[in-house]
Amino acid sequence: MAPLTPDFDEEIDRFGTHSSKWDMMQPLYGVPAEDGLAMWVADMDFRPPACVQAAVQRMADHGLYGYYGDDTGYRDAIRWWMQERHGWAVERDWIFSTHGLVNGTALCVDAFTRPGDAVVLMTPVYHAFARVIRASGREVHECRLALKDNRYTMDFEAWDAQMTGAETMLVLCSPHNPGGRVWTREELQGVADFAKRHDLILVSDEIHHDLVMPGQKHTAMALVDDSIADRLVMMSATTKTFNLAGTHIGNVIIADPNLRARFAARMAGLGLSPNSFGLFMAEAAYSPEGAAWVDALVAYLDGNRRLFDDGVNAIPGLASMPLQATYLSWVDFSGTGMERAEFTHRVEQGARIAVNHGPTFGSGGEDFLRFNIATPRARVAEAVKRLQEAFGDLQ
Ligand SMILES: Cc1ncc(COP(=O)(O)O)c(C=O)c1O
Repeated sequence: MAPLTPDFDEEIDRFGTHSSKWDMMQPLYGVPAEDGLAMWVADMDFRPPACVQAAVQRMADHGLYGYYGDDTGYRDAIRWWMQERHGWAVERDWIFSTHGLVNGTALCVDAFTRPGDAVVLMTPVYHAFARVIRASGREVHECRLALKDNRYTMDFEAWDAQMTGAETMLVLCSPHNPGGRVWTREELQGVADFAKRHDLILVSDEIHHDLVMPGQKHTAMALVDDSIADRLVMMSATTKTFNLAGTHIGNVIIADPNLRARFAARMAGLGLSPNSFGLFMAEAAYSPEGAAWVDALVAYLDGNRRLFDDGVNAIPGLASMPLQATYLSWVDFSGTGMERAEFTHRVEQGARIAVNHGPTFGSGGEDFLRFNIATPRARVAEAVKRLQEAFGDLQ
């Protein structure tokens, strides 16, 4: 059972638990299980808050796992969280529960575009977007983020000139994975205007919205511009915030009745309804106790971020992007002058760290590796030490 005061320093052995991050590190990356560090797929090495563990315990104690009924409390927990943490008023019937947000994205593609349409992504961006778009027989239209002073910015003028007319949807990642940007209200207004100019459905994936570093402020896209309500789909989840990714549950929130009807029809057509474990855990998480846990988590992640950045940026040729949100550090290796195969080999075989490869995030990711720092601080310190050794000849 998770203690009431979270101990994020506790090193929990995840091997042999069907953990994608740890058990697949060796088969996928060749990083040895004996002393490898898993810093790739985006889940955390921390237990969720005690209120979530207690909800699962109550289910197990009761011992019956039948069909779930009456989700009013669950919907109200989502409404409470969005109002309390994001200042956003949501109605009960705006909420759909999908099997996570990759599924939510795929459903949006399915419901709101046609085969052969193009979907705009601002790259580099979370790799599963392109995967589901292409797998659904749609094209990916890449609008490349501009890199200025080691941070990403949006370049609407360039993007306007690249549009072909085949684009019908834009999937925005806000805050941004992998660049860790919290987009400003002005930037988000730019996205809204861009969507209007090119008549795009705007899907705003805000799964990282709670993991925002001290001093930063995330703005929900729904609060930016009322005039895009008829083209806006909001997505969020408990899964990143509370480390519940295996429950595969996500919130797709749609205010517009017409879009809502189209989305509901697609969900009904596919026979989708959520898993009761996800509903129980999400309702428990969206609570005052869950909120206090998130505050403690973010403070801890901020400490990890400082440690990681200080250590990595001390290596000549490496530059981590300033992390305004998420626990995913995006490190630029271009300053080493090495080929991608060389710096990747040094990280995976030299430092024995499994990381996400930049090119999977689309164009602009070629010189980067992504490190997941949501792990006990001692492991972050160990990773930094190993990286300094693996690139020791550059010191
Ligand atoms: C932006 C973004 N969306 C969605 C997901 C995954 O969502 P899910 O596990 O709910 O399918 C991730 C996971 O890292 C992500 O970064």
